[in-house]
Amino acid sequence: MSIKVGNGDTVFLLNTANTSYAMEKGASGRLQHIYWGKRLDRLEDLPVGEQMQYYPFDQPSKKLLTNQEYVGWGGYLFDEPCLKALFADGCRDLDLRYQSYKQSDNAVSETLVITLRELVYNLEVDLYYRIYKGLEVLDRWSVIRNTGTDNIMLENAQSAVFYMPRGKEYRLTHMSGKWAAEYALERINLTQSKVVVESRNGVSGPDSCPWVAVDYRGQADEESGRVWAASIHWPGNWKFVVEVTRVDQVRLTGGINDFDFSWKLHPGEEFTTPKVSAVYSEEGFGGASNAFHRYLSDYLAPQPKAKEMMPALFNSWEVFEFDINMKQQFELAKIAARLGIEFYVVDDGWFGQRDHDRAGLGDWYPSKTKFPDGLDPLINHVNSLGMEFGIWVEPEMVNRDSDLFRAHPDWIMNFPRKESNEWRNQLTLNFARQDVSEWAWGFLDELLGQHNIKYLKWDMNRYFSEPGWPEKPVDEQREIWVRYAQNILELFSRIQEKYPKVILENCSSGGARIDLSMAHVSDMVNPSDNVDPLDNMKIFEGYTQVFLPRTYGRGIGVAPNGINGRVTPIKYRAYLGMLGTFIAGDNLFKYTEVEIAEVAGYIKTYKEIRETTQNGDMYRLESAYNRPWAAFEFVRRDKSEAVMFVFGQSMQFRKIVPRIRLRGLDPESIYKVKGLQDTGPYNKLHLTKELLSGEPVKNVYVERSKELSGKMLMQLGVEVALAGDFDCLLFKFSRVK
Ligand code: GLA
Repeated sequence: MSIKVGNGDTVFLLNTANTSYAMEKGASGRLQHIYWGKRLDRLEDLPVGEQMQYYPFDQPSKKLLTNQEYVGWGGYLFDEPCLKALFADGCRDLDLRYQSYKQSDNAVSETLVITLRELVYNLEVDLYYRIYKGLEVLDRWSVIRNTGTDNIMLENAQSAVFYMPRGKEYRLTHMSGKWAAEYALERINLTQSKVVVESRNGVSGPDSCPWVAVDYRGQADEESGRVWAASIHWPGNWKFVVEVTRVDQVRLTGGINDFDFSWKLHPGEEFTTPKVSAVYSEEGFGGASNAFHRYLSDYLAPQPKAKEMMPALFNSWEVFEFDINMKQQFELAKIAARLGIEFYVVDDGWFGQRDHDRAGLGDWYPSKTKFPDGLDPLINHVNSLGMEFGIWVEPEMVNRDSDLFRAHPDWIMNFPRKESNEWRNQLTLNFARQDVSEWAWGFLDELLGQHNIKYLKWDMNRYFSEPGWPEKPVDEQREIWVRYAQNILELFSRIQEKYPKVILENCSSGGARIDLSMAHVSDMVNPSDNVDPLDNMKIFEGYTQVFLPRTYGRGIGVAPNGINGRVTPIKYRAYLGMLGTFIAGDNLFKYTEVEIAEVAGYIKTYKEIRETTQNGDMYRLESAYNRPWAAFEFVRRDKSEAVMFVFGQSMQFRKIVPRIRLRGLDPESIYKVKGLQDTGPYNKLHLTKELLSGEPVKNVYVERSKELSGKMLMQLGVEVALAGDFDCLLFKFSRVK
């Protein structure tokens, strides 16, 4: 890792172990991007920025420089801008020129700050660049400063723009989605146009995800190919504009969505944009996501929890919804403990008048009918069974039928003369207001401070509507979007700081508010309200493009599945849960003794392998998008152990699975191969006849030895056979020498 400044302080070269990012201050004083790709070490190898110019029509009086590092809207620059400002006299033209730079470093990172200054007006922009020891991520963000004596209205303030090497044959990958169908990968070839991937509903998802990747000529796959990927750290409205300009230049601009955005920058004030993390990989999409995962695991996610083992959880929602009470939870907890559950989580329904979704939100005291003696008797009981206790809250919302709304009807976001629309019978509290956000901290602090609660599931179940803030001057009211998001991050951080041992789950109708800023302040997520394992093969594949697998809370949900009615075996659901953080959400009252023993076995296996799945590198070996099966592998960083999951989907015509090649092992080491649970040592060939007859399944042994080299496992791979729909396999590879 290094940041080099050369050529008379005009060229800036930022190097990670494998990549370079470079820019140059030209003779005009504009700062231009010159390179982002595989590592280059010589400043002499870099192109001259000012040669990379274009003329929109005939030669204009002044040369225009394309590929500016931070584009102010003004002059002939019709590219998507990074900054658009309105000065007090009505001027809206920006011309940003290089002013100075400074460098700093510490034990984990190196930072470069380049200051640009508007040619005429009193406005400065600090461009931040940060790279990290041992990581392949470049973080960029911007700080916009009013150095004058008049207010400046910011109308668009992006974090950064990135450029791919000139050429128009690029493909864009992004994620779309909706409730119960989040993180769906989409791929399109770019043309001379703009593609906008964004959120403008107040939360970062679920219609899209603040991550995009561009690869050259659509040639990248999981293992190889050039991929440029970026992800915005922002839980509110965000926007990526991916554009191919008239000169075949691909540009990627990202940050807070400028839709309905405005920010009054008073004299002397600064506006700090969110970070955008950028990754370049020559090892395809797998390489790019591995870079994000290491960044999250080693740096961004709450430490030291990010390296500690995530527990096996029980959650009450899927089966019991609002219909919970002390006696029932008492009994349920006993069964959960027998399964080996480590954290027992009571979801919605425990507070106020919350007997359905039409009342109670906002009243954060235990229901007098369901928990007449408060929460402590249940917490103590759960603790006495050897489990920790967790609880659900939805602080940002209120039902009209609640004490809170009756006391503070003005706390909701609203336009006073318009009706405030409800969604799931609830209204959104205006968390941009300091008093509202302090109220939330008050009840959360009391809940966590006065009870032995070790797990908090923070939910947020609607989009914004009527985003008014009538108490503010009109020209500050639109700040609601940003100030709301800032206060949410602040509250999550406060919980992390004061209660560092509490596991904080980020939920928003499933996975509607997941992004790198939330990943910085929460420990796990509910990726979707859809727990169907088949659907989750794809949701997991999308989610893990950027986010850590260990944060994916999933497992034994109810069958038939509530979303699509599909019935899948317990084992299949359990294996899915082992990919991330294991959650049992099934009706344990219905379990037979045989099923209790079966699930206890899966949870035991989860605990045995979680050091590898939760702290190792993950490889998406086979994609459910392409085939009727999926395979995921996890490898410890020291390469001493790996596990591989294979999930069959619809195995019509007894589809034959080709050998699956492992990745990330040490080629020179020898690994002992073991099938876990009843998967057989290697090649389990379930013959339909045997399966139907209930006879023990014969394992067909095809390898010469039970100990195989990393080389062989990666070159030839493992022979697997899936018996039919919903068969799944789990292999463990332990280094023996
Ligand atoms: C949302 C969440 C669920 C559950 C319910 C409770 O739908 O995504 O996990 O907590 O709310 O109302």
